[in-house]
Amino acid sequence: MSASDSLGARPLTAKRSGALAGRMRVPGDKSTSHRALILGLLSIGKTSVEGLLESDDVLRTAQACRQLGAAVERGGQGLWNVRGVGIGGLVEPDGVLDFGNAGTGTRLMMGVVGGHPISATFDGDASLRKRPMRRILDPLSRMGAQVVAEAEGGRCPITIAGARHAAPIEYRTPVASAQIKSAVLLAGLNAPGCTTVVETEASRDHTERMLRHFGAQVDVAPQGEGGRRITLTGQPELRPAPVIVPGDPSSAAFPIVAASIVEGSDVVVEGVMLNPLRTGFLATLRDMGARIEAVNPRQEGGEEIADLRVRASELRGTDVPAARAPSMIDEYPVIAVAAAFARGETRLRGLSELRVKESDRLAAVSAGLAACGVVHCVEGDDLVIQGGNGEVEGGGEVKTHLDHRIAMSFLVMGLAASRPVTVDDTTMIATSFPDFLDIMSGLGGNFAGATSR
Ligand code: S3P
Repeated sequence: MSASDSLGARPLTAKRSGALAGRMRVPGDKSTSHRALILGLLSIGKTSVEGLLESDDVLRTAQACRQLGAAVERGGQGLWNVRGVGIGGLVEPDGVLDFGNAGTGTRLMMGVVGGHPISATFDGDASLRKRPMRRILDPLSRMGAQVVAEAEGGRCPITIAGARHAAPIEYRTPVASAQIKSAVLLAGLNAPGCTTVVETEASRDHTERMLRHFGAQVDVAPQGEGGRRITLTGQPELRPAPVIVPGDPSSAAFPIVAASIVEGSDVVVEGVMLNPLRTGFLATLRDMGARIEAVNPRQEGGEEIADLRVRASELRGTDVPAARAPSMIDEYPVIAVAAAFARGETRLRGLSELRVKESDRLAAVSAGLAACGVVHCVEGDDLVIQGGNGEVEGGGEVKTHLDHRIAMSFLVMGLAASRPVTVDDTTMIATSFPDFLDIMSGLGGNFAGATSR
């Protein structure tokens, strides 16, 4: 058992609810929050962050930044200051960098350490220890880092000795992954010359945007159909820059689907980031006939954001192309829940990456759907769901496998299913959306045994 395994599981039941109504604000974007702290560490001077997601995953990254030499302090709700040490100024950490459940924090920080002449050990909970890290270690080795110790199959705990003199590389990512891309770019910060990442399908671009915001030169060119070629000029002097973290679209997906499937609902989700590389799930829900209206569009922290008004609607099945996967990778579990309520068949294509998330999400979603009486099958990497035309039996006990998104998705299902849905553990929800239960209860969600945090 690793240091960060959770102590007691907290099961919870969601029951069919009356119309959900009201306004809510989702927490800050998790991807942006990790990056704000890390770029704060890599700049000299004070970076202020507003709207930081104060979730377990992000707090782990804050702690790792401290272990690498930064002063990281909370100044108030969502307000954080990072006093960084700059590229090349990292100190070798005392003790293990324990990232808990957080794959993003681990992989991005492996890139940071990999480009510096220091050693660090990365570890986390039982879920993190199952996740593949070769995809990060391989490019870092090419840049001069060494893997000193690893568990079987390139898994955590992993000790990396970073490159003495990091070499710039050109790297073609084997799968569309912002984490791989970001690890290489972050390592490239301490390499002379240009580090280039080529991706055949564009993944979320928060690292590129934020590097530019901190003064680095990052050139992005289209690559083939839908891909990108990203070139970073190494050894920039990053300047601390204030960061405003927009609302997390991946967290917004839960109330949005809930409002779409619970009869009579009318909910406004405020301040949602609409970066096109994150909003594939909105396109999918709209294809399914969801009534989602973007109001009050505005810019915040270099991103387009808007309030989303969502009204319940009769959903229909759809066919989601594999090419859309990178822009909705974390939303498939809750889209599968929407599909269970739709009329007709939904086919979600190209889900191989779901197998290596916080859990094997394809297996976990399939088991959860089966437990709740939803007819479906997995065909290769596709998930095919026969919708119940507004009716889902429910009644299942769903295993969450230390996966926050599995827990929240099936609780959302329970709000509209005929019989209650129980998830075996809700503790992991704190990794990304600590106020989920309070917020969903505030909109009218019916949870048995929900305790106010
Ligand atoms: C993330 C990238 C995605 C996503 C994860 C957050 C990021 O992972 O699933 O939740 O912030 O870079 P991959 O890069 O493995 O696709």
